[in-house]
Amino acid sequence: MEILEGIYSRRSVREFTDAVVSREQVYEIIKAGSWAPSGLNNQPWRFVVVSSSEKRHELAQLTKYSRILEQAPVALVVFVDRSVMYNDTKDHQAIGACLQNMLLATHALGLGAVWLGEILKNSEAVRTALALPETLALMAVVAVGHPLRTDQRSHRQELATLVLNEC
Ligand SMILES: Cc1cc2nc3c(=O)[nH]c(=O)nc-3n(C[C@H](O)[C@H](O)[C@H](O)COP(=O)(O)O)c2cc1C
Repeated sequence: MEILEGIYSRRSVREFTDAVVSREQVYEIIKAGSWAPSGLNNQPWRFVVVSSSEKRHELAQLTKYSRILEQAPVALVVFVDRSVMYNDTKDHQAIGACLQNMLLATHALGLGAVWLGEILKNSEAVRTALALPETLALMAVVAVGHPLRTDQRSHRQELATLVLNEC
């Protein structure tokens, strides 16, 4: 898939079939995330792969988007490792780039995903549920699976609104 075609055709996917996502696919998505740029190339991202229905159910209780986490066969939980951070803004920007790479890789593999941020209200509970140390801060959960539908719509503002000036 061409990169621009992938960027423009990716949509958030919130409904999934029962089909499994292979371990190879999961690791391809994480690898794509890990190839995001980061300040000083410090690669502050860390991942937990949650496939078991028990653990997904546990995480699902921590967000109002529980249905998505119950249905998606895999949840990729993305953390920033505070022990390697050097600048709050830049490290968080790097995590955003990592997450976008993951979404695009998922799309390129013919899978679907949604970036779940609402669960951050329960960051500490997620970290505890996954038995991780305090050095790890939750950044997002990416629900991944085979799309049930491919007719999702989205919209963007006109570039004339977004581009403030040309000098
Ligand atoms: C930081 C962030 C947090 C998000 N949190 C959620 C969420 O908790 N639940 C959800 O269904 N979608 C979530 N989304 C997905 C957005 O709703 C979605 O990207 C946006 O509506 C545009 O749709 P599109 O991705 O299909 O283009 C989040 C996206 C971002 C970048």
